[in-house]
Amino acid sequence: MTKNIPASIIALDGPAASGKTTLGRRLADTLGYLFFDTGVMYRAITWIALQHDMDLRDEATITALAQKAQIDIRPPSKNDGRGCDVLIGDKDVTWDMRGDDVDANVSVVSAYSGVRQALSEQQRRIGLRGKVVMVGRDIGTVVLPEADIKVYLDASAEERAKRRYNEVTARGDKADYDEILKKMIERDHVDSTRAVAPLRPAEDAVIINSDKIDADKVFESVLELCK
Ligand code: CDP
Repeated sequence: MTKNIPASIIALDGPAASGKTTLGRRLADTLGYLFFDTGVMYRAITWIALQHDMDLRDEATITALAQKAQIDIRPPSKNDGRGCDVLIGDKDVTWDMRGDDVDANVSVVSAYSGVRQALSEQQRRIGLRGKVVMVGRDIGTVVLPEADIKVYLDASAEERAKRRYNEVTARGDKADYDEILKKMIERDHVDSTRAVAPLRPAEDAVIINSDKIDADKVFESVLELCK
């Protein structure tokens, strides 16, 4: 890579609420790149399955859903903290997909190999166009192993639960810190122990623990890497 050309594919992975979205959006804005949060795709499939009372343990049905679902991701139409609009048909499900019921079930859905295959293929196709900041759990390891920059953003469960609590209450919704912490630990456990594409840093990822570093510092150091 020539020295002055910024990295074109930036992969950001890490556990729930580790700050990937804040960092990723800022990097994408600064570099003029597409911000692509892959978690919304797994959330959208889970949301549709719950809406239709599908049996989430029925892998074949959920996989068929992932293969045919029309999920549309567009630039944000509202300035309410969203990174993008997520549409299913005509319905804006951007915040519905962040509900407790989706949080509690998304890791079951995202562990299915057929679901991962269907969604990863779409993610990879978009990522390979370049000029992209792609955020998820397996971007550096599976979706785009050729990424120019791989960052694994980590933080303690307590710190991450605190951030998620603040995020939810800032939207005016009620939240229970202990409950958030418990559910987050459970979800991370399922994500990191699943057989297919488990959450883990790529061997060539830069690992950043943001417990004691504020968001500005994390942003500056990753921007430096990208340049
Ligand atoms: O916002 P938060 O970090 O809590 O979660 P998210 O990024 O929206 O991801 C929701 C869930 O989708 C995760 O807990 C994973 O189970 C799954 N996911 C995944 O398996 N692979 C990805 N590349 C992105 C998300």
